[in-house]
Parts: sequence; structure tokens; C-alpha cells
Amino acid sequence: MRRIKIFDTTLRDGEQSPGCSMNLKEKVEMARQLEKLGVDVIEAGFAIASPMDHKSVKAVAGAVEYCTVASLARCVKGDIDAAWDAVKEAKHPRIHVFLATSDIHMEYKLQMTRQQVLERISEMVAYAKSLCEDIEFSAEDASRSDHEFLAQCYTRAIAAGATTINVPDTVGYATPQEMADLIRYLKGHVEGIGNVDVSVHCHDDLGMGVANSLASVMAGATQVECTVNGIGERAGNASLEEIVMAIQTRSHYYRAETNINTRQIYRSCKLLSNITGVAIAPSKAIVGVNAFAHESGIHQHGVIANALTYEIMNSADVGIPQNTMVLGKHSGKHALRDKLFSMGYELSDEELEPVFARFKKLADKKKTITGRDLEALVLHRRNQYIGECQLASHVVNAGHGVPNTSYIRLQRGEELLEDVAIGTGPLDASFKAINHMLGMDIKLDSFSLNAVTDGEDAVGEAVVKIIAPNGRRYTGTGLSTDIIESSIRAYVNGINKMMDSAE
Ligand code: KIV
Ligand code: ZN
Repeated sequence: MRRIKIFDTTLRDGEQSPGCSMNLKEKVEMARQLEKLGVDVIEAGFAIASPMDHKSVKAVAGAVEYCTVASLARCVKGDIDAAWDAVKEAKHPRIHVFLATSDIHMEYKLQMTRQQVLERISEMVAYAKSLCEDIEFSAEDASRSDHEFLAQCYTRAIAAGATTINVPDTVGYATPQEMADLIRYLKGHVEGIGNVDVSVHCHDDLGMGVANSLASVMAGATQVECTVNGIGERAGNASLEEIVMAIQTRSHYYRAETNINTRQIYRSCKLLSNITGVAIAPSKAIVGVNAFAHESGIHQHGVIANALTYEIMNSADVGIPQNTMVLGKHSGKHALRDKLFSMGYELSDEELEPVFARFKKLADKKKTITGRDLEALVLHRRNQYIGECQLASHVVNAGHGVPNTSYIRLQRGEELLEDVAIGTGPLDASFKAINHMLGMDIKLDSFSLNAVTDGEDAVGEAVVKIIAPNGRRYTGTGLSTDIIESSIRAYVNGINKMMDSAE
């Protein structure tokens, strides 16, 4: 079995996806989860892009232990210096330098000749190598580059010290056969390629990102770059969970394995979705709510007779919590901790305390607490308990033909704020009351509500996107069996994130 390295770029390429930006705390939280998941490399950001990017890469570098932490850099000294400064305290730092090699990029974007590009690669890879042992070189738009020239670029990069060469299908243009042919060609024409990792980085513009990555693995690639939930520029990057489960489920075909703890997959996907407020599509492979559901009678009958008739994977192997009754209102802290542990959540005493408090409240309202309820409580603990403002209480009076009013009390630090407002609906009134008491002109961008579990007493998860007075967007989430309360909590959570990033 060949061991394929998983290079996760959720925090860099993934974050470039519209609506998926994350703050520093969220990036660190995601990075810790990626480490639990077992990825080999975390690309934490593009350090030169902004002071906040630099800070986030540095924070991730200090937060993880086993994974390599990479920062992206153009083939420019200032970028490389910033990247090194951000990752140098990581246990395993990597600088990832890139330069475009396709004729169209060189002519119109870089305005450089082939010779100049070759020289820049030698010079900048060598410079990066003088700072850091682990260097990755990417030839941007490799799949649309002249093959012979591309081989020269990689030969130069390896000679200058690159330890990984990456072959991006930057615009998602290639087909699986073309990617496989390109990898085979490079293996035969790049000097020193046998001593380095050969990586692929496929975008999903034609929906072939995962297929292209897997075809490259078959052709000899040893590293795959991907993102959780496939988020990324335009149509996104190849999805980590799909690549990993394809390699695991068809390991005899690919004759390969990864280091991923697949039982952490679902948790990682949900955490990202919870942080960004971008929902996972119901029919999304591996982690969508329908991915393991059998609707047709024929299928259900087959699965009851023998699960293998229609199931090629086991949902438990991906870490999907079972939606059965697990705990009730008489369950204690030990039972909760044991159950969470069996679901893969290891909480310290300090972390368990607020989850237990919320569990007790929920158990008072809801007859049965399922695995999905517990998962939602754990995912939301950071939202409910972190931040300057906390919802203390609310009274909403809503109906048809009457004014909709909302009275809200917010604890802001030591101060208890209160206000009442009239609105076109109960949420409009609530959000207006909050804006008024904080003296801020915050606009609602979008709002959605989903039931976390089935049934009349389902827990509702609200996702609210707000636009701050400075025009920046923030996502807040809230959880409750009362949909108005979950919506207000989501709004307050968005405001907390806004205040947090203003510091
Ligand atoms: O898509 C791309 O080419 C990239 C590179 C910077 C690796 O993201
Ligand atoms: Zn990319």
C-alpha cells in the first residue's frame, strides 16, 4: 500500500470561497480538528495577504503539533519572508511557493518570459530553502502549461531544494485521463522527481476535482491537496472527505491508504459548516444528510436483508452520529461524558460544564436527546458561551394584524442592557431592539433555519449573516428548541464575532 499524504488547504484556498471567511479563533479551532482528523499538512493561509492572515498562520503554527504547517508565498522575497516568519515556530514548518507557468498566465498576468520564469524559480526556491528545510513548489496553471517547459520548471525547483512539487489544475480544466498522463509524463521527464513528493491540487470547475485527484494518485502522485466540504475558489477544490473515502473504500483498486481517522470526517465537515454558516448540501457525498438514507422500498428491503446490497460504506466509519435515543433528563455528567467520548468528542471538565448545563436545559424541553442533539450542543458551545454579549432574556409578542414587538435583555460584560422595538415580524423587532441598545447600524444579510433533529420537539439551528457598519460580513449561529430564541442567539453570536474581530 502506498501512503498518500493529505494536504489540507481549507484555511487558505478554502477560505477564498465567498462567505467562508473565518476569524483567528475559528481558524485555530478548525486547525485543531484537522490535526485530530490526521491530515499531514495544514496550509494555514497566505501570510503576506494581510496582517490578520499573518497572525492566523502564526496562531495555527503554534496550535498544532503533529501536522506540517504551510504558508503560501509568491516567488517574491517579501512573501517568502512573511511566510517564514509566520510558520517558523511550527514543529514542522513548510513554505509553499508558487509561480504561474502557462503561456497565458506568463504573458498576461506575470508579463514574464519563459527564461525569466525559470530563473525566478531557481532563485526564489533557493531563497526559501535558505530559511526552511521543507519547501513546496507549485507551478500555477500547470495543467494548461506546455509539458516540456513545465518539466524544466520542476527540474529547476528540485535542484534549488524543493521537497514537494505540486501540479495544480488551477482552473479545473483537465480531465482525469489528462491529469494521469501529465503526472506520468512528469515522472519520466523531471530530474530528481524520485526524491520528492509529487502533489496534485485540483479545482472543481467541471465537477472533476476529485476524479482528477484520484486519477493522479493512480498515476503516482503521493500528495493530494484538498479542502473540507470541497470549499474553495469558484466551484471549490477537490473535497477531502470524498478523496479519503474513495481511497479507503477502494483501497485494493488504488493500492493506497491515508493517515486520516475517518471517524473524524463528519465532525470536521460539521464544524466547518458551523463556523462558516455554509450548509452541507443534503445529497453531498459522504456527509450530506441523505448520503446514507434509503428512500425507495426496494432499497430499504435490500438493506434490511443485507446492508451490503446498497451500502458501500458504513456511516459509523465516517463518524455520523446515530439518530436514536441516547440520553434522557435523568442522565448525569458521567453518562454525558461517556456518550460524547464514544462519539469522538473528548471534553475537558471545563469544556463539559457548559455543555452539561445546556444538556439539562434541553432535556427539560425535549423528551429524548439523540446523538445529533448532543453533537449540536457540542458544536454550539463556543457560540453560546464565548463573546462580549449574551442573551439574558427575551419576550416576543407576534401575530397577524397586531404590531410585532420584542423586548430583549442583553448582558454586555458587566452591564445589563435592555430595549424594546416594533418590527415587521418577531425577528425584525428583536434585531432592531438589539441594534438600538448597542447603538449600531447592523444589517441582516441572510437568515436560515434548519431542524437539527426530527420531530415536534426538534432543535432548530439558525444561521444569520450580518453586515457590520464597516461593510464586513459575519456569520452567527444559534441553537434552541424555540426558533425565535435560536435566531436571536445567532444574531448575537454574529455581533460577538464582529466585536471580536474589531479588537
Ligand atoms: O489553484 C492553484 O493553482 C493554487 C496554487 C496557489 C497552488 O491554489
Ligand atoms: Zn487552488
